[in-house]
Amino acid sequence: TAARASGVWRFREIVLPDVGDDAIVSQPEGNTPLFRRESVAQWAGASSLLLKHDGHNPSGSFKDRGMTVALTQARRIGARAVACASTGNTSASLAMYASLAGIPALVFVPAAQVALGKLAQTLGYGARTLLVRGDFDDCLRLVRDGAERLGIYLVNSVNPFRIAGQQSCVLEILQQLAWNPPDWIALPAGNLGNTSAFGAALRAAKALGVVDRVPRLLAVQAAGAAPFARGFREGFAERRRVKAETVATAIKIGDPASWDRARRVIEETDGIVTDVSDADILEAKAAIDAAGVGCEPASAASVAGVRRMVAEGVIAPDARVVALLTGHVLKDPGALVDYHAPGSTRPLANAPVEVDASLDAIAR
Ligand code: F0G
Repeated sequence: TAARASGVWRFREIVLPDVGDDAIVSQPEGNTPLFRRESVAQWAGASSLLLKHDGHNPSGSFKDRGMTVALTQARRIGARAVACASTGNTSASLAMYASLAGIPALVFVPAAQVALGKLAQTLGYGARTLLVRGDFDDCLRLVRDGAERLGIYLVNSVNPFRIAGQQSCVLEILQQLAWNPPDWIALPAGNLGNTSAFGAALRAAKALGVVDRVPRLLAVQAAGAAPFARGFREGFAERRRVKAETVATAIKIGDPASWDRARRVIEETDGIVTDVSDADILEAKAAIDAAGVGCEPASAASVAGVRRMVAEGVIAPDARVVALLTGHVLKDPGALVDYHAPGSTRPLANAPVEVDASLDAIAR
């Protein structure tokens, strides 16, 4: 069955509710690759960099790890419908698993701010899609109040079953490294659900004794959507909100929901929170794409963050670093085509060349 092939449910004793295979809503998901790419390591200045590619999940993002568990739980409790707010990946994943589970789905996304691939998936998988005239933070507020009023099961990452499933990524990384933990794990950070999940997984691994020390976490935000990085720099004196703006629409979030949990995780792992410019995100993405790996813009923030921390002397150039890639290259074709457009002066641009349909023109 799908459940037996799932890289999430194989850790069910550690992180998941105890259900039989037949009750599990799975594609399957997880079991994603860990790549070593010399050119990306060189770009980042981190010689032992590895890339954990969670864009290789069935809907193309890490969200599937949590959604298989959330929809399994929704079916267990007999939910009449499920809902989420999203910048696009959560909605695509929710729509896919809700369809599998046979439960109606309602999604709230910011109008005209969701990457094309994600919106296409959400519609295609059959979720009722509301294009809200507002930003992600408005969507989250609305879905929280709306789900309660309408009696709909909420599956944003404030749902503990989502976080439970997302823990499997860290366990998978540790196992792929033969339980010899890296020095650092870097990940993009938006609503801070995954940062919370990674911390919980490290806590579980340590408590079980499968590792004797835990890596430090590096959470990376886009500079135009970096309230958590700002909070970190201020010693987390107070919770910050910003009006978010970034090319990495997946993490265009100004008021992260899991702030308190993520803060505890950063403190526990002696972690760091930083931010990177849109230009650096796009350059990191171009380097990752050109290495034959590929990812969406938000994903590349992890690698751009590693480069910044190496340059600032926080991460040693020979440290063992795993950077998480959260989404597939095809999620945001618009950003890609813009970057490589004819006339582009971007550092790694690869503009197409339009030619007449003749051999002479092609030879020229
Ligand atoms: N990377 C990608 C590709 C994402 O889609 C997200 C979040 C993140 C990183 C950040 O993870 O929110 O747990 O800190 N996307 C959510 C969504 C908000 O609706 O798809 P986080």
